[in-house]
Amino acid sequence: MTNTIKISPSILSADFSKLGSEVISLEKAGADYIHIDVMDGHFVPNLTIGPEVIKKLRPLTKKIFDVHLMISPVDNFIKDFADAGADIITFHPEATKDTAKTIDLIRKERKKVGISLKPKSKLDLIEKYLDDIDLVLIMSVEPGFGGQKFMPEVLEKTERLKEIIKNKKLNIDIEIDGGINFENCTLAKQAGANILVSGSTIFKENKGDLKKNIEILRKN
Ligand code: DX5
Ligand code: ZN
Repeated sequence: MTNTIKISPSILSADFSKLGSEVISLEKAGADYIHIDVMDGHFVPNLTIGPEVIKKLRPLTKKIFDVHLMISPVDNFIKDFADAGADIITFHPEATKDTAKTIDLIRKERKKVGISLKPKSKLDLIEKYLDDIDLVLIMSVEPGFGGQKFMPEVLEKTERLKEIIKNKKLNIDIEIDGGINFENCTLAKQAGANILVSGSTIFKENKGDLKKNIEILRKN
């Protein structure tokens, strides 16, 4: 894992009527990744987009598509998201009967594997898989909606995860997602996160100045 901070803007806060140009604007504004939240109205109480939309966005940018799947059961859709152009595929362990099998399915598609933990989900759920994954996504809000308040209690879990990764000398990114703003981004970084997801802060602060907002999140 590098110490460089990466910013992964969530297009959940973008204008869905012009998603293509929003993605292009994020690239121009200096985004490292594009965070794509996929929701099924079942695993989480909200619906967003599926592989067809991602496929249409794919030719518009070379940026890494950081796809956060909040769908259950997840296995049957891994190939569709891989074919659509996802680079990182992140799933929730509660959305599969067999975490090891889901990891294998993503690996077979030669994509990076992420596992996401909801605020109340414990590290025990993923510890034995750490050797086989590339990223842990720590949710700092209950998954389902943008614009919620950051839950500081997940910082301790982030610190413990960072410690485990360090002790095992693993090369795993720690991404944090939900309610990230210009103040708590500092705490998230101090706790060990090296990828910050942000929807509302990037799209709404400073009258939607994407470049400025990405820069502040990176520097603060
Ligand atoms: C919530 C999503 C987040 C969300 C982040 O389920 O996973 O990616 O869009 O949005 P903000 O930054 O507004 O909390
Ligand atoms: Zn997300």
